[in-house]
Amino acid sequence: MFGFHYRLERHALRFVIAVILVAGIGGFVEIAPLFTISETVEAAPDMRLYTPLEVAGRNIYMREGCYACHSQMIRTLRDDVERYGPYSLAVESKYDHPMLWGSKRTGPDLARIGGKYSDEWQVAHLQDPRAVVPESKMPSYAFLGRTPLKTSDLGLHLKALRKVGVPYTGEMVANAPADAYGQAAPDSPYAAGVAQRYGEATQVRAFMGRQGDPTEMDALVAYLQVLGRLTDVAKAQQAQAAE
Ligand code: HEC
Repeated sequence: MFGFHYRLERHALRFVIAVILVAGIGGFVEIAPLFTISETVEAAPDMRLYTPLEVAGRNIYMREGCYACHSQMIRTLRDDVERYGPYSLAVESKYDHPMLWGSKRTGPDLARIGGKYSDEWQVAHLQDPRAVVPESKMPSYAFLGRTPLKTSDLGLHLKALRKVGVPYTGEMVANAPADAYGQAAPDSPYAAGVAQRYGEATQVRAFMGRQGDPTEMDALVAYLQVLGRLTDVAKAQQAQAAE
C-alpha cells in the first residue's frame, strides 16, 4: 500500500490524474442525485404562496437570527416525527429563498409551528418568553410590537422572489403594501383582496389583537402561523402510509 503510494507520488503527471479521478468520483456521487430531482421532489398542486405580510415576517425572522436557535426541518427519524409531526418534504421549501432549515436546535424545530399555539400565545411568548415558559432561554423580542412594519418596499421583495422562480403575479406585486395592511386588518377594505389573491385558506386576522398599521410583530406572527401550512401534502402522505 505505502509502496504503491510512494511510487505514485514520484510521478507528478500520474499523481495529478489519480487525484482528478478520485475527486471526480466524489463529485459524481454528490451530483448524481440531482439527475433525478424531477422524480424526487413531490408534487404539491395545493401549494400556496407566502403573502406579503408573511414574506415581511420571514425577513424579520432572518434579520433577528431566529434560525441560529431554531431549525425548520423535521428529520425522518422517529423521535423527530413523534415530536414535531410528518417529516419535512422538499416541496415544502420550494418557495423558501433562502431556505431556513438551520443546523442548530437550541429551541424546538419550527417547521410545523403554524396553528400549534394561538396568536395571543405567540405574541406573549415573543414579548417575554419567560412569562409563558418560565425555564426559557429565548431572548425577548418585545420591541417588534412597538416597531411599525415597513410595507412600502414589499412589492420589490415579491419581485425579487419572482426572479428566482416564485410565481407572484403583477397584480400581487402591485398590491403588496395594501395586502400586508389588509391581512392584519380584517375589517378594512383591503382585507378582501388578500383572500382573493392568495386563496381562501389565507389567515386574515388581527394577529396582535388590534387593527391598523401592522407592526413587525404582526408580520412575524403571521409568518409563524403559516409554517407547515402552505400545503397539506406531507400530512396526506403520512395518512396514506398509516393505512
Ligand atoms: C438563543 C436562542 C433562541 C433564539 C435566538 C430564538 N429562540 Fe425561540 N426558543 C428558544 C428556546 C430555548 C425555546 C424553548 C423554550 C420556550 O418555549 O421559550 C424557544 C421556543 C420558541 C417557540 C415555541 C416552540 C414550541 O414548539 O413550543 C417559538 C414559536 C419560537 N421560539 C420562535 C422564535 C422566533 C420567531 C425567534 C426569532 C425572533 C426565536 N424564537 C429566537 C431559543 C431561541
